[in-house]
Amino acid sequence: MSITPESPVGEIATRYPLATRVFNRHNIDFCCGGGVALAAACEKRGLDTAAVLDELAQTLAAPGAGEAKRWDEAPVADLVRHIVDTFHTPLREELPRLESMTRKVHRVHYDKDPERLTALLESFLRLKAEVDEHMDEEEKTLFPEILAGAADPSRPVAAFVHDHEVVGAELARIRELTDDFRVPAMACSTWNALWHGLAALETDLHEHIHLENNVLFPRASAA
Ligand SMILES: [Fe+2]
Ligand SMILES: [Fe+2]
Repeated sequence: MSITPESPVGEIATRYPLATRVFNRHNIDFCCGGGVALAAACEKRGLDTAAVLDELAQTLAAPGAGEAKRWDEAPVADLVRHIVDTFHTPLREELPRLESMTRKVHRVHYDKDPERLTALLESFLRLKAEVDEHMDEEEKTLFPEILAGAADPSRPVAAFVHDHEVVGAELARIRELTDDFRVPAMACSTWNALWHGLAALETDLHEHIHLENNVLFPRASAA
């Protein structure tokens, strides 16, 4: 596959895993919006498609880029284990840590920006509840069913894709509320760490959802 303006961004991310660095840098949605063509995704972000194609070519020509793991070529069981070990398990520690930081910043700095900090706390709590329940369901029902080769999961794959959209929308809201994760001048160290933690959470969840939506789920339904 060579990358063209018509290539769907999710497919580019699957075939060329390091492309996600470029997508993350420009906030190009390659997970929930994975089916969108590169040119349309660039247009949505006000980016010049030719410049993004150049950046992709440079990133993918860098030494070692060809050695990035191709999860679409790995056994499904390895991919499922990778998703659980690399994303689900760490999230179960990271989400409570971020929750306590979000609560602390809300409590201590409430007077400085009451509306925004309250909206952020509410948004984070919705995100956390959604992700916690969703991961549990994936591990208890969908993943074992995929591994067993079940043609008809008890909760349809489309429902999990829909959950991802809910999570994606909440992440976009958090990005907006944090001003694209730009740390305010008045921020204390917890505030600063929270903004960085939320930015890292976004990158991590985008990668996680991409691997499920664009790599695992299509392979499971094709099996
Ligand atoms: Fe997951
Ligand atoms: Fe998921």
